[in-house]
This record gives sequence, C-alpha cells and structure tokens, in this order.
Amino acid sequence: MPTREVVKKNTLNFIELFKQIVGDAYVFVDAESLNNYAHDETENLHFLPEIVIKPRTAQEISKIMVICNMHKIPVTPRGAGTGLSGGALPHLGGVLLSMERMNSILEIDERNLQVITEPGVITEVLQNEVKEKGLFYPPDPSSRGSCFIGGNIAENSGGPKAVKYGVVKDYVLNLEIVLPTGEIIWTGANVLKNSTGYNLTQLIVGSEGTLAIVTKIVLKLLPYPKYDLLMLVPFNSLEKAGEAVSAIFRAGFIPSAMELVEINALKIVSKFVDSKVVPVTDDIEAHLIIEVDGNHLDTLMSEMESIADLLLQYDCGDVFFADDAQQKTELWKLRRRVAEAVKIDGYTIEEDTVVPRAELPALITGVKSLGKEYDFDVVCYGHAGDGNLHIRIKKTGSVYSLNNPEVIPALKALFKLVKSLGGTISGEHGIGLVQKEYMGIIFDEVSLELMRGIKKVFDPNNILNSGKIFDKRLN
Ligand code: LAC
Ligand code: ZN
Repeated sequence: MPTREVVKKNTLNFIELFKQIVGDAYVFVDAESLNNYAHDETENLHFLPEIVIKPRTAQEISKIMVICNMHKIPVTPRGAGTGLSGGALPHLGGVLLSMERMNSILEIDERNLQVITEPGVITEVLQNEVKEKGLFYPPDPSSRGSCFIGGNIAENSGGPKAVKYGVVKDYVLNLEIVLPTGEIIWTGANVLKNSTGYNLTQLIVGSEGTLAIVTKIVLKLLPYPKYDLLMLVPFNSLEKAGEAVSAIFRAGFIPSAMELVEINALKIVSKFVDSKVVPVTDDIEAHLIIEVDGNHLDTLMSEMESIADLLLQYDCGDVFFADDAQQKTELWKLRRRVAEAVKIDGYTIEEDTVVPRAELPALITGVKSLGKEYDFDVVCYGHAGDGNLHIRIKKTGSVYSLNNPEVIPALKALFKLVKSLGGTISGEHGIGLVQKEYMGIIFDEVSLELMRGIKKVFDPNNILNSGKIFDKRLN
C-alpha cells in the first residue's frame, strides 16, 4: 500500500486534468471543503480526502476514473454523507467524488409506474414528486429528508416501511453505472421480471460503492395507498414487546410499519425535539409504533382494533391512536430522530443487527446481558417487524468501534449471538469501515474469497472505495 504522502502527491498531480474535465469551479482542495467531506454520520470518524470533485455527468466520471485507474488513485464516491457504517469516508485519502450535482429526476413514467432519476436526488424529494402523481416509492430511511437515493442504493437501505413493502433492492429495476475502469454500462432492463443472465443490477445494490459508481437509476413505483392509521403501544417489558411483534404477523396482519423504541431512547429523543406527545412513565420499558395502510378505511380500523386486542396478551398499557396528521407527524418525527438524539447523548456506536423476527426477544435479552457483562449502557430501537434492531452503545471514553480494544470484544460477542440466532450484522446500514472486522463471524473464507473475486473483476486495481467491506487495502 502506498504511503499517504505518495497518495497525496499522486492525486494532486492530476488537479489540472480534473479541472479540465468538470470545470475549475467543481474541484476543491481548500481546507474547509476537504473537512466538509471528511465525515459522515458514523460515530465520530474523520478522514480527509486530498481533493473533492463534483462531477455532473457519467461521461465526466468516466474520464476521472480512467485517470485514477491508470495511476491507482483511491476514489471514494459519496452521496449525502448520512451513512452509518463509514461507506463514504475517504480513509485512504485521494479523490472524494461527490454526487451532489447529479440531482435531477429525469422522468416519471406514469404509464409503467417507474421513475428514472440521478443519484444525487434527496429520497424524500423523489417520494414527494412521485406522490403528486399518485405514486409511491416506499423505502424511507430515517434520514430520508437529507439522504440521496444513490446512497440508499449503495447501502440497500430500508426504513420503517420495509416490513410491508421491502427494501431498496425490491424497487431497483435498472442502473447506469461507471466502472472503475471507466466504461459506462446499463446493468439490466426497465422491466419487472428479468431472467437474462446474472443479475448485475442487484449485485450493484448494496455493494457500498465498491464495484461501480451509479449514475442513473430506474425504480419501480406503486400506487399510493389512500389511508394509513398509526398507533403507539406501551409495554411494561421490553422482551414482551419483542414477543408481541411476531404474534401480530402470525395472527395474519402485515402492518406497514412496526417499530420498537426502548424507553431510554424515547426519553432522550423527546427531550431532544422538545416533545411531550408520548407520556414517559417509569413502569413502561418500550413502545411499539404500529401503522397499517391501504385503500379501505373500515378494514384498516378493524385491523387496528384486532391488533390492539391481541396485544393485551403481552402486558401492554393503554394504546394511543394518533387522531390526525399532526399527531402522526409528531410521532414519526420522534422515531426518525432517535439515532441523532442518542448519538448526541453519548451513544456514539450504532449496530444494525437483524435476526429472524421471532428471535427478537432472544436478541433483546442477549443484548442486555452483554451490556452488563461488558459494562456498557445499551439502548435498543428499530424495525422490530423486520427483526432489525439498532443497538446503540455508550461507555465513557469509548466513542469509536474502529480498532477500539474496549469495544471489539463486546461487538464480537454480540455478533456471535446474532449469528447463533440465524441473523446477520447489518440489515440496512452496510458494512463499510466499521463492521468489516466482523465479516468473518458471518461468512466463511470461501464466501469471502468469492466476494473479493467479484471485487477484482469490477475493480482490478482496487481503487474504488477500497478497504470497505473487506480488510484488503489498496494494492
Ligand atoms: C433508523 C436508522 C438509524 O432506523 O436506520 O433510525
Ligand atoms: Zn433503521
């Protein structure tokens, strides 16, 4: 691996060429710009790039990649920088390629219920644009007000609606990509079914910017459901809340959201956003936020009542039904801002474990006992309906999971538990920098070698987001 000094010299050698490609105004080397792109939302990690380039077209990216590939300059593609696994961090220096100027929605195809978009569009902006035409793009990460659709594709993001509607991969039909070697290709076709060769489209989804740079995206849309109803259910026991989750599905219901928030997280976020919408009492350990949606209000109301009746068997308190749009918005705001609030409160390390849904109570019990064993404060929240539990860890002085001797043994124990329950270490945030240490717990060497082989085919010089997902660094 070349030293950082060599990478710097090598990268800056080509500054004039980069300026010729994208224009002087879109190449940055000043300290403030470099600093702005040195972090994402992952813990408190910070890595400066040598140069920030903001291209506008796939052709420009192609030309940049040809230079970087020839001279083995590390390239880190970046969306909005809202990631939670360090995928957009330029930890090897080199070129930071920001996709922020590629922010046009190119076509909403109402005949086929599809949208073609560039990667730098904010997820919620895309959702609102298609909603105006009665169409629905369900994947809704908590950061949807600021994250980019391209980043969502890189991480195969989820969000609350995944429990009924699936995650990003379920909506991606076709992608235009630039390979690390500079070729521009489409991965598939704009169709709902495709058995034509290997599925390159789905290989790119969730590849965390390590295989190619996505420059155009074709997404499937649905008709927008007419109604949704929301309720908040308090539980005296966190484990019982976990048990209730799978019972709801076994009873025949598929809510459009089924979120869990532990009381500590709720207390912290309520204070953070200055909300009193949820009464916080000492006897409550956790809440479930349950939403149903569809086109028939009567059916939804009776579903909600049946779910509430069922939950009485799980030691729940008084159910709160959100009456109007304002209450719904406030509840969702609380839920969506948990990660931000608990991070500021010192829970800097975030995990994204996922287990088969019925194993959630075992995961919760296990997490709490690991917290005691390793002396961490732990707070749980997340997409309970998917078995996807976000676990935030706080211990005075331990702010990084990366190479932190205080944290690594505890995380290893947690991930072994997750594996033993039939789960895995990331449901929607990706592996990036902070989880790669633990890939060996989930995959055997044969599987990892297959993945490294795929990486090599796409990126023979290992320049694109190198050192993410796997340990191998730049050649
Ligand atoms: C959430 C993000 C952290 O669920 O995934 O809020
Ligand atoms: Zn989440």
